[in-house]
Amino acid sequence: MATWLKDAIFYEIYPQSFYDTNGDGIGDFNGITAKLDYIKSLGCNAIWMNPCFDSPFSDAGYDVRDYKKVAERYGTMEDIENLFAEAHKRDMHILLDLVPGHTSEEHAWFTESKKAEANEYTDRYMWTDGWLCGGAGLNYIAGETPRNAAYIVNFFKCQPALNYGVLNPTERWHKSMYDPACIATREAMKDVCRFWLDKGCDGFRVDMADSLVKHDDANKSGTVAVWQDILGDIHAEYPESAFVSEWGKAEQSIKAGFDMDFYLDWMGNGYNSLVRDYEAHLNAFASLPEYLDDSTENNSFFKADSKGTCDHFIDEYMGRYEQIKDKGAIALITGNHDTTRISYGLSEDELKLTYAFFLTMPGNPFIYYGDEIAMNFRSMASKEGGFTRTGSRTPMQWTSGTNMGFSSAPADKLYLPVDPAEDAANVEASEADQNSLLNTVKALTSLRHSQADLLDKSNLEIISRKPLVYKRGNLLLAVNPKNTDTQSRKLAELTGDAKVIYSIAINGTQPGIADGVITLPAQSFIVISC
Ligand code: NOJ
Repeated sequence: MATWLKDAIFYEIYPQSFYDTNGDGIGDFNGITAKLDYIKSLGCNAIWMNPCFDSPFSDAGYDVRDYKKVAERYGTMEDIENLFAEAHKRDMHILLDLVPGHTSEEHAWFTESKKAEANEYTDRYMWTDGWLCGGAGLNYIAGETPRNAAYIVNFFKCQPALNYGVLNPTERWHKSMYDPACIATREAMKDVCRFWLDKGCDGFRVDMADSLVKHDDANKSGTVAVWQDILGDIHAEYPESAFVSEWGKAEQSIKAGFDMDFYLDWMGNGYNSLVRDYEAHLNAFASLPEYLDDSTENNSFFKADSKGTCDHFIDEYMGRYEQIKDKGAIALITGNHDTTRISYGLSEDELKLTYAFFLTMPGNPFIYYGDEIAMNFRSMASKEGGFTRTGSRTPMQWTSGTNMGFSSAPADKLYLPVDPAEDAANVEASEADQNSLLNTVKALTSLRHSQADLLDKSNLEIISRKPLVYKRGNLLLAVNPKNTDTQSRKLAELTGDAKVIYSIAINGTQPGIADGVITLPAQSFIVISC
């Protein structure tokens, strides 16, 4: 595993909305370079940048037209190489976003593949064997191409699925995973990895990593085998490269060779039970931001006045954690470009306790840009295939000035509008306010960097669920997110030597230890060195 990963805290950047240096209303590479010192000041020493490759942007760049070319709107190849170099100078690392499951329908491979005449790319994508033949349980598009066949899509219509073969072919058009055409797809993806690692990136977040082998791969053994091959080679050639999967089942993805897997925001899962446990009918992808208002019941564990518990999270997380802790890690995210910002449902005080938990758990934490200031602009008209995700992708709010310091372009030229609210949060004001969420984030990242026990990814023990007490080596940590009661517990670990090294007291009453008992007033967090 890459040595730099041990101490990495990631900051996710949606490049189009981060910082615009050339006044065209769209964020760019030079904007990220200009803000590296800010990111470092937060305590984040690693970055995941969403796709920045040539693309028609029907899915915000997750529709890649050329894997080896940067999108002009973000700058030049020189600019991105400069970004890598400037990051490395600061001992920071950058993950790009690898999209291996599909390309844009405008990618040259697809333009060739859809031709009626056979050529080198004929089997680079999954095609059926007739213009009206469906995809045997897979989504397909018919009637669009000269070729007498329909193609399988991986996500939107514009994203034809690359062909990694199927585990057990049952249709005439199924190719085996070991067919030379499917092996060629794998090799093409290795080539993309090498290209960018040679340019200076430090690894990849991998989009829909679990989606490669289609049909009859319910336990993902086919997809795992493909990744073992790809990552086996790349890790051997680039031992300092890191790969983080969008998969959501660490027991599979870590076996596949990933260093880390995201705990994704699947509706009703353990992660959402902590921060987005809204009434059941609200589906995050379908309709959440429009329907979420003050009357919406929010039963999240970190909602101060809710009855939500941490049970679902602990059961689900620990089930996976115990299986992977010696080989890889599970990454907790404050949010991402697909999720509803948790600030829609949690106040800044509630977020302080939430982040305290996320930043002291095993695995490298990911902070989504703007979450450090609780940006919470609501949903709006869809942009580049964003739909209800669009509200989480608005320009970063740097200052209270023009376009909130994001860009000097006229407001109607901005990638998306900036939050028009009078009291919209911004970095400048948050930095100046000692009590801000941003300053709490800084304190928490600095705590994490300073404690070897917090960097050891395999030492987590859950001691109690109410209050939530967890142990990381010689550290005991506890949180009471509720505003109703003081929670306390007698703990054998609390001997005479135990001392408090960090705490958060939202209401001013400090949590503490006395006579072997830990006491957590309403809305408090404590870290004890034993
Ligand atoms: C997951 C990405 O995070 C999302 O933004 C994208 O739309 C789909 N994969 C398709 O690539």
